[in-house]
Amino acid sequence: MSLNKKSVDDINVKGRRVLVRCDFNVPLKNGEITDETRIVAALPTIKKLIKDGGKVILCSHLGKVKNGPNEGESLAPVAKRLSEKLGKDVKFIDDYSVTGATATGAVEAMNEGDVILLQNTRFRGKEETKPEEAGEAFAKELADLADDYVCDAFGSAHRAHASVAVVTKYIKEKGGNNAVGYLMQKEIDFLGNAVENPVRPFVAILGGAKVADKLNVINTLLDKCDTLIIGGGMAYTFLKAKGYEVGKSLLDETKIDYCKEMMEKAEKAGKQLLLPVDTVCIDSFPDPIDNPNIATTVVDADKIPSDKEGADIGPKTIALYAEAVKSAKTVVWNGPMGVFENPVLANGTEEVAKALSETSATTIIGGGDSAAAVNQLGYADKMSHISTGGGASLEFLEGKKLPGVYAADDRA
Ligand code: 3PG
Ligand code: MG
Repeated sequence: MSLNKKSVDDINVKGRRVLVRCDFNVPLKNGEITDETRIVAALPTIKKLIKDGGKVILCSHLGKVKNGPNEGESLAPVAKRLSEKLGKDVKFIDDYSVTGATATGAVEAMNEGDVILLQNTRFRGKEETKPEEAGEAFAKELADLADDYVCDAFGSAHRAHASVAVVTKYIKEKGGNNAVGYLMQKEIDFLGNAVENPVRPFVAILGGAKVADKLNVINTLLDKCDTLIIGGGMAYTFLKAKGYEVGKSLLDETKIDYCKEMMEKAEKAGKQLLLPVDTVCIDSFPDPIDNPNIATTVVDADKIPSDKEGADIGPKTIALYAEAVKSAKTVVWNGPMGVFENPVLANGTEEVAKALSETSATTIIGGGDSAAAVNQLGYADKMSHISTGGGASLEFLEGKKLPGVYAADDRA
């Protein structure tokens, strides 16, 4: 699927100030970056703009920033890692107001090919996350720093935030370009082709805890795929809808009818909808979640005891799902098969990752937990594409328009 949006290849940034929105929302532990995937994924666009002689002004959010600006959610570690990756200095503007005199001064001092990184955009609170409520001053201040704007933050593209979407209005007002970066293009190419133009058979695998989070994606993917595989906590609402007892397993009573409807839809359309045929049960949810000292029993999916809860797919289900993946030509996977944070309950997720690593199909991993699982297991280089966006890839697969994409200028 080609994106009919202006890209970094369509603009000439020589000597111009370019504001680039990245998704540098990376996991941190004690101030150290534990997964640099999103930083590495942003490099091609940044390098291209440096090479073309742009003055590159990077911005991003980090974390949820629930209690105001704080050192723990500063982008300082990202600036440092980015400098190492680019092999050149990335000047960090450590000002909690993000824009303002310090940022403006730093931009004025930039030479062609220089790179600066602004502080966490969410330090501006609702001005960033709810501009429709808080006003557009921050978006305008960001635009004032630059001539052109590039959105390469696929992971944040589903957020209509100031730095993701609203800023484009002010860049446009002064005649600048609003383009998308290489990462955005790549993500939309892979995800878009998978759903719009898949080589068949197309198998979609959905997991995760709640059916409610996946209502639209289940419905949309059922239209597009040949086989839909369901795992994770949400499978138990489907099993209940099938008439099985699910014991203490995760269940959303309000979505039982929806699950019935989806099963009927699959049946009518002649699509395969695969549900677990056996499940790994535990007595109660592990506390802490990664506590390995838990007892498990494997039972058939229609024999879950009333005092137990299902927490992973069982071996028969693994074999069934692996078989479906084997003959596929396109596979999209979003969401773990069980409580994969616990080593005892990670087997289903690991085996699905393994099956995907062994198939010759085009394999596309939605971001978030499934991407983390694939990375952790060392299968990353065996996949065709691992999305850098969790929520964003899900909303894209639902067929929603992503604000970060449609805010860019259309190609002339
Ligand atoms: C993510 O990691 O999901 C993206 O960076 C978006 O972050 P958010 O879910 O906090 O908006
Ligand atoms: Mg998120």
